[in-house]
Amino acid sequence: MTQLTIVAFDGTRFDINAEPGSTVMENAVRNSVPGIDAECGGACACATCHVYVDDAWTAAVGGPAPMEEDMLDFAFDVRPTSRLSCQIKITDALDGLVVNVPERQG
Ligand code: FES
Repeated sequence: MTQLTIVAFDGTRFDINAEPGSTVMENAVRNSVPGIDAECGGACACATCHVYVDDAWTAAVGGPAPMEEDMLDFAFDVRPTSRLSCQIKITDALDGLVVNVPERQG
């Protein structure tokens, strides 16, 4: 299991044991993290699973693929650390990952 922390917009921390191979979005939904709508179910087609990757983790997580980058245009308050959480797959290298939920989606 891999440790994943998702911080809701109100500061509530969700410390989750995430299965390698699952996505950050799947873990957020499974643990009822508020603010992750994930309307398309992970198809990179809605941009309602937007998160900010913690500064310490941006290099390890990497940047968005071109298709994800296009979808991020539809997200609210996009920043250099923005990613769509359905496109971040948990691996052992991401053990301890922290992401933050934005104020709102879309
Ligand atoms: S769940 Fe729709 S883009 Fe991530």
